[in-house]
Formats: sequence, structure tokens, C-alpha cells
Amino acid sequence: MSQDAFYLTTPIYYPNAPPHLGSAGTTMMADAMCRYRRLAGDRVWFLTGTDEHGDKIAQAAAKEGISPRAFADRMVALYVEEWRRLGITNDDFIRTTEPRHEKVVQRILQDLWDRGEIYLGEYSGQYCYGCERFYTEKEIVDGKCPDHQVPLTFIKEDNYLFRMSKYQARLIKHLEDHPDFIQPDRYRNEVLGFLREPLQDLSISRPRARLEWGIPLPFDPSHVTYVWFDALINYVSALGDPDGEKYRTFWPAIHLIGKDIVKAHGIYWPTMLWAANIPLYRGLRVHGYWSVEGRKMSKSLGNVVGAWTLAEKYGREVIRYFVLREMPFGLDADFSEEAVVGRLNADLANDLGNLVSRATTVIVNFGGGAVPAPGAAGPDEAALAAAWGRATGEVAKAMDEFAFHRALAAIWEFIGGVNRYVDTQAPWTLAKDPARAERLRTVLWTLAESLRGLGIVLDPFLPEAAGKIRAALGASAPRLADAEWGRLPAGAKVAKVSGLFPRVEVKVAEPAKSADTPAATTTSPRISLADFQKIDLRVAEVIEAEKVPKSKKLLKLTVKLGEETRTLVAGIAEHYAPEAMVGRKVVIVANLEPATLMGIESNGMVLAGSSENALGLVALDRDLPPGAKVR
Ligand code: MSP
Repeated sequence: MSQDAFYLTTPIYYPNAPPHLGSAGTTMMADAMCRYRRLAGDRVWFLTGTDEHGDKIAQAAAKEGISPRAFADRMVALYVEEWRRLGITNDDFIRTTEPRHEKVVQRILQDLWDRGEIYLGEYSGQYCYGCERFYTEKEIVDGKCPDHQVPLTFIKEDNYLFRMSKYQARLIKHLEDHPDFIQPDRYRNEVLGFLREPLQDLSISRPRARLEWGIPLPFDPSHVTYVWFDALINYVSALGDPDGEKYRTFWPAIHLIGKDIVKAHGIYWPTMLWAANIPLYRGLRVHGYWSVEGRKMSKSLGNVVGAWTLAEKYGREVIRYFVLREMPFGLDADFSEEAVVGRLNADLANDLGNLVSRATTVIVNFGGGAVPAPGAAGPDEAALAAAWGRATGEVAKAMDEFAFHRALAAIWEFIGGVNRYVDTQAPWTLAKDPARAERLRTVLWTLAESLRGLGIVLDPFLPEAAGKIRAALGASAPRLADAEWGRLPAGAKVAKVSGLFPRVEVKVAEPAKSADTPAATTTSPRISLADFQKIDLRVAEVIEAEKVPKSKKLLKLTVKLGEETRTLVAGIAEHYAPEAMVGRKVVIVANLEPATLMGIESNGMVLAGSSENALGLVALDRDLPPGAKVR
């Protein structure tokens, strides 16, 4: 890979159903990342596509009485169109039914067969048609697929198997030596957790008699390969000939995926690459899952949300902003229209939209329609310049970690600072006093410089709004390198911008009033059951506890939640000694956005009751395993 090449992929989606907020969310994140890398000057290759073989598509097509190919063609067009409408800038779109892909899959299969990496065996096990894979005894929950909640089917058949097991030790070592390979850490730990159990060989084929819709094995055409052995290879097949320019420039890739397919990408794929003598990918970046108003998004619940439907209602940039800002990267997040409207009105209309409108208006009205030459900068300007430096520094750091939410939070911190600057400097008052003309020019220049910076750094996240901000200042194509404070020359014409993000009014249903309703006994406003269900309460076992240095109140706790271990900071040190906490089971809020307290990232909150001087931890009166849900 050459120095500045950046190759990013999304999962290739199953086109058995149209795109929805989940697939669109991943694709928008990938798009924001690729736009950011292009802004930074990298050579970017951005791949997405569709995974078209297998039972899922064959069954959906059979239901409609059409061929899998005709079905796939129709559905894939929906994906291509959706990404176009959402403004996705992918460089390529791969379909696993394309000859360019099938050719590479067959070449790799033949090579692995020739070198004994694949063998014919018998495979039997519990199979889920929805996931198109076998489940091990450990993974099965109550005899059902943990994902689809349906009974599994016992299948016994001839299968070709890939000798994945022989790579187990090597993969563990690789993960230990390269902590950055899979991130965030919780997913690296999840993969290491899988690798604590003996790794099985991987079944990669199906008898053609049972499934036609796959790629025939070149050494035994009575079998087809499909799903993972087919799909994962898209990431290399899309680059064409391994000796070609594109392949040599861009491989190895960074793969962006949702948490549902960590095992395939964290275990199958690196071992397949080793077997095929292809260099490993650069990194796997994993995001969490969207729920809808506290519930899993699923067809059967009828709550599948379409990104374009929302974009038509609120604007595509609003949905894009929501997805990037609302989901802490790696953790789950909840979608609701109320939350979208909240972000739109507060962050986009109020903070950003108002700033752009106020700043361009005062420059045009009091600066003669152009950026004036500034006078001497005072402490307020220096503070804003420093805030800009902090914001851009944090954006760079956050984007290295795919933490879109943190990048945006940092930019909004700056926007808040500029809004306060307009308020305190009150250019409209300065304009009334000719003796303060120089000060006015400094303030107007500072505002224009703030907008210039925002027009650059917002580009990956809000490309249209950023374009409008740049256009208002007559700025040219954005480059991250230009986002350095102080570069704005005087003299550029400025145009007023208004209504960048119009507010949306929400109608909140009035609660029915009744004359004989007893006086409320609660002290807080009531919330709906759906709102309460958004709070994920869990039993957690404290495995380590220590005082946070220099803090009277805080204890740092390491807790176990099922398989997962995490760190929390709790304000209980004045009431509980660290040693009294170890081994105790507490109840925590498990889905709070992480917060940093005294430099320690806290992932959740311990529940306790308190009165004036006393504090008591919420406890269970029977023993429950760590991770159990509290309702
Ligand atoms: N075809 C496989 C992937 C093969 S990649 C070599 C597949 N397809 S899928 O259509 O099911 O897409 C799964 C991906 O869609 C997730 O990894 C994630 O990127 C996205 N999402 C689908 N539902 C989602 C949510 N509810 N929330 C967040 N992302 C979701 O698996």
C-alpha cells in the first residue's frame, strides 16, 4: 500500500429486503470517513455492494416465482438508487453475481484445494436458514437461533471444509500483538473470547442438489460455495487483478461493519487471507446496532425505518447528522423521530444554522459585504483561535478511531464558543460607535474565519451545508490542510445565508385532563413505557474496585456483565470502601453514553438510593447471574 492510500469497505448487504436505517447508517458512516480522508489528501477507494448468493435470496425469489437473478437485479437497483439519493460517494459497487467476483472466488478455491487447505468431509449440525450457518451447541439459546429466535434444523451432508482450526494460535497471537487490528476493544475481546474455545474447521460448500444459487467449486461442480467464503472475497475481488494498479495501491483495506458479523470478519476472513497468502486487512472497525424506540428493528415488528423516507421528511443531511452524532461508535443507539427532531432543532437549526445566519448577516451589514482586514486580536480572539485548535485536534483524533460522535461533539463545542463570542462582542453595538471601527473589523474577520474553518471541517459530515457556508465566503474546494486558524485573507465577498436548517415544530399530544384525577404523587414528569424501555438495566458483578486518585467521592469499578467486562466510575467512595465492593452484585444502567470522569472512561452508572447523608446501593434479593436484565 502506498503511503496515502485509504481503502474502506462496508459489508455487502443481502438484497433480500430493501435498504433500511441499519445498512444506510453503516454506508453513511463509511461515506463520512471517506470524505474525511479525501479532505485530508489521501487517495481513497470506497467500496460497497451486495451479497446475492445463498438460501435467503433463493427463497425470496421462489416466493415470487421468479429467478434469483431477476429478483436480485430488481432489489440491487434499490440499493444503488438509495445510495445515490443519500449522496454516497462510493467508488465501486460490487455484486457477488458478477463474473469479476466469481472468477476470483474460483481462483482462490482452486489454489486452496491444490495446497490442501480445503478437504472433503461430512458436516452435521444445527443450521439456521435465516443466518445461513451452523450453530455450535454453546451458541444455541433454548434450542433456538440466538439471532432469529427460531428453532434450528439438524442437517447432515457432504461438505468441503476449510482448515481454519490450524490458524487458531496464530490468530490469537496476532490479536495480542496488534491491539489495533479489531477496534473498539470490546469487539477485539469478543473475538478473543471466541478463540478461547477450540476453533472448528469452516464448512464452505453446499451440495448443489440442495442449493443451486452459489458459485460452483472449480474442483467439484456438484458443490457450490456461498455466503462467507463467497462474500468476504468481494473485498479483494473488487480490486481486480492482484498485479494491477488498483490492487497494488489499495490493498489492504479497512473494513467497517456492524457488530452482527464480527465473527466472520474477525476469524474467518483473516484465516482465509493467511491460507490464500494474501496480506491481512489493515483493520476491522465495528459499530453497534440501531434499535427503534427501544425495540429491535425487524420486519416482524413492523418497525423497519427507511433512511430515504426519513430524508424526504427531514432532509438527507439531517438524517446523516443524526446517525453520525447519535451513535457512540461501537455502542448501540436508539432511533426515534423525536430524537431526530431534537438534534435538528438544537444542533442544526439553533447552533449551526443560527450562527451561519447571524455571522453572515453582520458581515454583510456592518462590513460592507466583504471580509474586513482585522485589527489587533485580543484575548477573546485568542481564546477562539485556541478553541479551534482544540476542535480540529479532537476531530483528527476521533476520526482515527471512527468516533464520528466525538468529532461532531468537538465541532459543536467550537460552534457554541463562536455563538457566545457573537453575543459578548455584539457587533451591532460596535457598529454604532465610529471610534470602535477597528474592533468591529476584528470581530467580523474572526466570525468569517470561524465560518471558513467550519466550511472545511464540516464537509465530511454535512457536505451540502458545508458547501453553502463555503459558497457564502467565495471559498474554493476544501482541503483539511487549509483549516488552520488565521489564513483568511481580507477582501473576499460575503453573502448572507439564512435557513440552513429550518426548525421543525413537534406537536406533543396533550395529556387528557380529568377533573377527578388525583394529585400526582411523583415529583418528576411521567414518561412512557417505551421511554423507560430504552434504559438497559443489568446486574453486574464487581470484580475489582479502587479509589480514584485525588477524588473524595469516586470509586473505579471493574464489573462483569455476562461475557463482557467494563469499567465504571461511581460516586460512592464516601459510603463504600473499595474492598467492600468486590464480589458484590449491583444494578447498573448499561447503555449510557460513556463519560470521562477524572480521566477515566465510565461505561455505565451504578444505581443507588440516597437521602441527606445516607446512600444505599440497589441490590437484588435473590442471586442472579451478571448480565441479567432488570426491568
Ligand atoms: N451479507 C452479509 C455481509 C457480508 S460482508 C462480506 C450481511 N448482510 S446484511 O444485509 O445483513 O447486513 C448486515 C450489516 O448491515 C451490519 O453489519 C450493519 O452494517 C448493517 N445493519 C443491519 N441492521 C442494522 C442495525 N439494526 N443497526 C446497525 N447496523 C445494521 O450480513
